Amino acid sequence: MDRMKGKVAFLTGAGAGIAKATAKAFAREGAKVALFELNREAGESAEKEIRAEGGDAIFIQTDVTRDAAVKSAVDATIAAFGRLDVIMNCAGGSLQEDKPVHQMDLDTWHKTIALNLLHPFLCCRYAIPHMINAGGGSIINFGSHLGTKGTEKPAYAAAKGGIMSFTKTLAAQYADYGIRANAIAPAIVRTERSIKRWENKEWLLADNPTPAARARIAMQKLYPFSVGEPEHIAAIAVFLGSDESRMITGTTITADGGRSSYLKVAVD
Ligand SMILES: NC(=O)c1ccc[n+]([C@@H]2O[C@H](COP(=O)([O-])OP(=O)(O)OC[C@H]3O[C@@H](n4cnc5c(N)ncnc54)[C@H](O)[C@@H]3O)[C@@H](O)[C@H]2O)c1
Repeated sequence: MDRMKGKVAFLTGAGAGIAKATAKAFAREGAKVALFELNREAGESAEKEIRAEGGDAIFIQTDVTRDAAVKSAVDATIAAFGRLDVIMNCAGGSLQEDKPVHQMDLDTWHKTIALNLLHPFLCCRYAIPHMINAGGGSIINFGSHLGTKGTEKPAYAAAKGGIMSFTKTLAAQYADYGIRANAIAPAIVRTERSIKRWENKEWLLADNPTPAARARIAMQKLYPFSVGEPEHIAAIAVFLGSDESRMITGTTITADGGRSSYLKVAVD
């Protein structure tokens, strides 16, 4: 229950999905949490839910792609809680317009890079001085299984690939200050957004896919156990945010339920 007792964390995109589940998990482990979220309704409701469980949370409406907004959100966190130990740069996602390179408009490229790669940089830029003051800390970035592959989403994949090298650089540059930096690279996590996107996919929606669904999964080179819940990722984030992971920095933890280890080979 007290794995993060005394720590202060901020999480971006904390009104939904993985970051919301993680904010709740951090609070249950004793951390005070600041929720940086663009959507007011979602942010307020996440704050309320954490407080209802007895946690200490504040919602700060923030567009994490804007430099000045990130600075003032970090300042507000320090004003409320006095220190900063853990940051989780989680807001992210791909756009439908993220098309093959020769068909993609420039705006889609810029928006995708801003949300998935610029935003973690901005958060680190303003948070790191406070982590140095606190004597150390833990940075948790978000990659994706698409960050290591050639995909049909060039902007998203480039941003998530960039996250892995950015994370290594943070680890190297701030090790002397006791600041660790790691990333989590999920494959498919069942959030409201992903459920909407994949609403006709039985393998995503079913808790226990039928044999027919399993057959389709195999044809798509997907495995049912590669579909995770936000809480599965939150558990990894608690480990990375707590001192239990003190030996781990500069790494990206693949959280894909084994999907990237699976290669279907036709054997007759
Ligand atoms: N869900 C998956 O299947 C999956 C798979 C691989 C990687 N990821 C990565 O995990 C992270 C979390 O994904 P998720 O599915 O939980 O996301 P989500 O879409 O469920 O939630 C994202 C939250 O971020 C907020 N947000 C969007 N733009 C913002 C901005 N500019 N400023 C502040 N908040 C903003 C949204 O309002 C939303 O509440 C992302 O980086 C995503 O790329 C997710």
